[in-house]
Amino acid sequence: MEGHALLNPERRMLGVIQGDVAKKWTLEEILQACNWQDQAIAVTAGHGLTNKKLAKTKETSSIQIRLANEGANAIENGLLEARLWNWICSTDEATMQNLQQSFERHEAGPGVGLLKRLGVSLEAGKFVVADADVVNAEIAKRSEFIAGLPALEQSLDAELLEHFKSRRNLIESVITTSRMWNVTVAGNAVSSQQLQESEMISEITTELLQSENWRDADYRSFDVTLPSSTPASGRSHPMQALIERIRATFLEMGFSEIVDDYVQTAGWNMDALFIPQDHPAREMQDTFYLDNPAEMDIPQNILDAWQEIHLNGGDTGSTGWGGSYSNEVSKRGLLRTHTTVNTIQYLSRNPDKACRVFAVDRVFRKEAIDRTHLPEFHQIEGIIMEEGANLQMLVTTLKTFYAKMGCPEVRVRPAYFPYTEPSLEVEVKWKGKWLELGGAGIFRPEVTEPLGITTPVLAWGMGLERLAMLVLGLDDIRQLYISDLEWLRNQPIL
Ligand code: PHE
Repeated sequence: MEGHALLNPERRMLGVIQGDVAKKWTLEEILQACNWQDQAIAVTAGHGLTNKKLAKTKETSSIQIRLANEGANAIENGLLEARLWNWICSTDEATMQNLQQSFERHEAGPGVGLLKRLGVSLEAGKFVVADADVVNAEIAKRSEFIAGLPALEQSLDAELLEHFKSRRNLIESVITTSRMWNVTVAGNAVSSQQLQESEMISEITTELLQSENWRDADYRSFDVTLPSSTPASGRSHPMQALIERIRATFLEMGFSEIVDDYVQTAGWNMDALFIPQDHPAREMQDTFYLDNPAEMDIPQNILDAWQEIHLNGGDTGSTGWGGSYSNEVSKRGLLRTHTTVNTIQYLSRNPDKACRVFAVDRVFRKEAIDRTHLPEFHQIEGIIMEEGANLQMLVTTLKTFYAKMGCPEVRVRPAYFPYTEPSLEVEVKWKGKWLELGGAGIFRPEVTEPLGITTPVLAWGMGLERLAMLVLGLDDIRQLYISDLEWLRNQPIL
């Protein structure tokens, strides 16, 4: 045990109890020997020494008997039976009638009862006693008993104790804990040099840092593993904190962030991504179409390029979807159903500049709310456009991202999206189970060529709330959006 780990009061107390190795020191002895007034200092120091195994504490709780209200009166004026007995002995006419005149009703009644039990009886209205010595002796014993209080229960005469317990308000019992300390072998081995008291610093102040004193100061150590109360203070919502962490992670991985509107056209949200116009996801149950704006403009050359691709595959070698195609459908306003609508527009504006961009943003789908679904949620979207970008790079990027987010076990499975080939699904291992977090793939030529892109583009879109559920250990997604203060306070700092 190093000396500097001891607090000053512990040092002083250890020095004292080292003075007699065999002795168990009481609180009073410690206070005196350490020259302390405050019991709390001694008890805390004793506790500290015991935790460090330098001392042993022996705790005994005992019952103390002390005077109650009537008992304190009796000390001042005498016990009721003593006062009555004195009166009987000193009056010529010890009759019940006279007694009632000399004592109040509330004393006379119970008092006579007490005397009777001591052997005083009433004959024709007069008090008579068989043996005055017996009465004197018993009253003396009782007076002595209460004069000796407070005292430990076990040190008292059992019969008298029973007697006083049966009387109202004379005595009461309290449980007290007393401690005794003795030095252990380890405690005795602490050198007197280590017991040298020093000025100990428990708070670092600017003054201290500005002076030179901090260099040689002794610092109080704190056990940060001890339980403590948590101060409630303002902080970011866990979702916001998670979004910040995702941002930081992508920025660290060399990505830049894009932010765009969530009011978009069906053209950019779907046609640009080669989602056929008769795709079921376009139906009202999945997409929130808007009345205002019901329609938004898209440059005619882009509309034409999509139409070409959808009807016959354009110059990509694809046959397209065939069937019918409408520019009016493309112009319809909607709330974006995925953030891929933003990355594809970024590419259309920057078709020949290698890039790594990401977005963490809100999307909307007509979903029934349940444990794992919300109609408004967030996606973690990203693309890498780079010469030579390939599937391996995509998988590595996603694995790296999830590992940085605290999910090291990631696997991918084949999947299908109309706009990527190959397509994959990303799953993360959580509590022994694989959970699907999102989709990814390499944009098809039907997507890139109409925009004039010739470099491969890796793309992904992941659910943020799903990840939040994993990170925060939730089994109901709705918990994230109800303002449950108790829950919010107890969330980890992300
Ligand atoms: N947009 C897809 C979704 O919403 C995810 C995805 C993005 C898939 C990019 C492949 C490429 O689920």
